[in-house]
Amino acid sequence: MNSVIFYFSQVITGNTKKIAEKIGEGLRYNNNSCDLILLRKMKKDIEMIKSFNFDDYDLIGIGVPVYYFHPPYSVYLTLKEFPILKNKKGFLFCTSGGNPGSTLFQIKKVLDKKGLKIIDGYDRWRGWDVHQMYRNFGGYLPASKGHPTPEELEEAKKFGIKLIEKANDPNVPEKTDFWTKENASSKMWTYEYMQIWFPKLPGKFYEDRCTQCGRCAEICPMDKIILSPYPKFLDIPCNRCYICELICPEKAIECDWDKQISYLENLMKKKNK
Ligand SMILES: Cc1cc2nc3c(=O)[nH]c(=O)nc-3n(C[C@H](O)[C@H](O)[C@H](O)COP(=O)(O)O)c2cc1C
Repeated sequence: MNSVIFYFSQVITGNTKKIAEKIGEGLRYNNNSCDLILLRKMKKDIEMIKSFNFDDYDLIGIGVPVYYFHPPYSVYLTLKEFPILKNKKGFLFCTSGGNPGSTLFQIKKVLDKKGLKIIDGYDRWRGWDVHQMYRNFGGYLPASKGHPTPEELEEAKKFGIKLIEKANDPNVPEKTDFWTKENASSKMWTYEYMQIWFPKLPGKFYEDRCTQCGRCAEICPMDKIILSPYPKFLDIPCNRCYICELICPEKAIECDWDKQISYLENLMKKKNK
């Protein structure tokens, strides 16, 4: 059986990459094959998808990190460009800080239109959650530190091995259970809302600190940033990952997080009551 996994994963944490590689290891069990394709730059990825030979594969996997209870916007838009995949089987997975929201549900909705039969999926793998929103709280969600654990990685490999059996079964049912519901968080955090609620990029930009190294432009999946010769932020949609701000070695990008930090503080107060 030939499988391919398309996955997205940020360089800072690489949680989804680790899980994708382990599932791939499982899918290669008994001389089966599995290719891994990293989605990294939306425009290039869409071009690649358009000339991709899906006929070479029996099973197609999609793996993403959870961004605001959804798949990252760049991946969502890329999936919309996938061709019709009738007679093909697929599976989905994500990693998250603990609340995957409606991520797999959203992906399934797009892929249903392509005719892909989703035979399995898992949205409970955890990954170390590092976000600018936590910067006053140590920079990361403490409960997610160290994930995915060795046990979770082993579980991902077993998931891959089981997939071979399922994909080879001509009567394998479609998986429909856990992604049929949208929860309150995912209903609220729509892509449109995210663009408004989160800080504007770049906020303050310190030209005197910037060395024009280009890391921010390189890392941006949506190519929102171009070097000219300093980073210029285009007026196009954004994943709102803020990895550009996080990765800048000179701290030349500085967004205003006051509103989000007080939101988190209130949330924590409520939880502690
Ligand atoms: C922009 C952004 C938004 C996130 N939103 C959520 C979320 O809504 N729920 C959640 O549980 N984790 C969330 N996380 C945590 C990531 O889903 C988690 O760290 C994931 O494993 C990252 O995968 P990666 O290392 O492959 O990029 C978010 C992380 C980032 C960077």
